[in-house]
Amino acid sequence: MILAASAYEVVLAIHIMAVVVAFGVTFAYPIMFAIGARHDPRGLPLLHRVEYTVERWLVNPGLLVVLLAGIYLAGDGHHWSDFFVQWGLGVVIVIGALIGSVMIPTAKRAELLAARDLASSGAREGAGAGEAAQATVDMSEEYRALARRLAAVGSLLSVLVLVTILIMVIKP
Ligand code: HEM
Repeated sequence: MILAASAYEVVLAIHIMAVVVAFGVTFAYPIMFAIGARHDPRGLPLLHRVEYTVERWLVNPGLLVVLLAGIYLAGDGHHWSDFFVQWGLGVVIVIGALIGSVMIPTAKRAELLAARDLASSGAREGAGAGEAAQATVDMSEEYRALARRLAAVGSLLSVLVLVTILIMVIKP
């Protein structure tokens, strides 16, 4: 069955796989950060490091594969004049720009601020876990503002990805 597939079908599968690989984990971020903030804020610096490292090594390369496969599909399938392709190109540019210029730098800064707030509130490795740790940590307004920005832009990116899947499938 796989041997009978056309190059177009294989590249289409790669295009969709890259979407899953690039963006799948990003839909779990709100849950990860809610658990970190609620149950053990000492984990927040690590979560932000995971966040921007995943963006750098998984989301950005995945986005590049989505783009390259999309370019092949648009050329081979003569779709360049279709709205869904132009939308896709625009979205890839917007997502890449937001990740490079907002998400990664903001997550790096949030990692540093979270570590600073934890140090100044006396939270340390080995202190009691769960509510005990939560009670001793007071995250600064500066950190909270960055966390809100990450959540807002992250949600926008997630919505953009979902809307783009809808547009790619419906091809209005
Ligand atoms: C975040 C960005 C993107 C997402 C989430 C996305 C998602 C998808 C999905 C789910 C499909 C399968 C639709 C179907 O088989 O009915 C698809 C197909 C396709 N995409 Fe994308 N895509 C993105 C970006 C792009 C870009 C940048 C291009 C072009 C440069 C592109 C061109 C195409 C083409 C030509 C097809 C094949 C349509 C067909 O033969 O039915 N996509 N895309």
